[in-house]
Amino acid sequence: MPTANWWNKVLAERIRSIQQLVPAQAVSEGAGVTVYRGIGIPALRNLDPFLMLDHFGSDDPDEYIAGFPEHPHRGFITFTYMLDGHMEHRDSMGNRGDLKSGGAQWMKAASGVIHSEMPGQSEGRMRGFQLWINLPASEKMSAPAYQEFAAAAIPEVADGDVRVRILAGEYGGQRGAIQDPHTEVLYLDVSLAPGARFEQILPVEHNAFVYVFEGDAQGADTPLPTHTVATHTLALLGGGDTVVMQAGASGARFILVAGKPLNEPIVQYGPFVMNTREEIEQALADYRAGKLVLTR
Ligand code: CO
Repeated sequence: MPTANWWNKVLAERIRSIQQLVPAQAVSEGAGVTVYRGIGIPALRNLDPFLMLDHFGSDDPDEYIAGFPEHPHRGFITFTYMLDGHMEHRDSMGNRGDLKSGGAQWMKAASGVIHSEMPGQSEGRMRGFQLWINLPASEKMSAPAYQEFAAAAIPEVADGDVRVRILAGEYGGQRGAIQDPHTEVLYLDVSLAPGARFEQILPVEHNAFVYVFEGDAQGADTPLPTHTVATHTLALLGGGDTVVMQAGASGARFILVAGKPLNEPIVQYGPFVMNTREEIEQALADYRAGKLVLTR
């Protein structure tokens, strides 16, 4: 019979323990909006295939009213999830979007998009996330695309003390709003009652993180030391297959995001993310020549 210690060791090898806690860093973006950045900062430059994670959240219009006026992107996907509030989107593909509480927007910038993301409200709470997902070299210069999902289009699984909204990938046998063919992104919004436990099996080769935005949670990396993940903290998960998180005394809400790494060179210059320096110079030249605009 295997001993309890042996079994604990097997479990520990399978569970994705917390490797690093990254407190989000406040930065000023757009025309002067305060965002909390968890990926794309010195503590965590990127987490292949993820290039940036911004969490915006404020009850104070002064912190969001300036919005994100016209700016370009090339080479990756921007994925925006609105928790509260209203954001108006316009882009060079001719899309006009209305992102409202609980809704999401999947914008494949690929060869180039110019867009604006402006508040559709002058008071009240504005809260959400923007995640940048890299594209493989073969897709960076493909045609841009846009998908928008209202709150009702995002599946939700509620089971006792655990409520999960499935933005991308699969959970509990339910497919989410978005299926990404290149990096197989999983993106879940998880709400846990006090003390409740959440488990999810992920492909071993995928990179994964949790970002807590309400309450706190612990990684159940028994028998290794446990870590408490506080609000506005990103927990980088290590190797293994199973994510286990347990809410603290006041409950927890977090996003769990995972994806298949591309393992390709990353050369970033602001809103352009390519594989080589030459491609970045081309992106700048194309932007200056007005070539990132498809239709108006
Ligand atoms: Co943008």
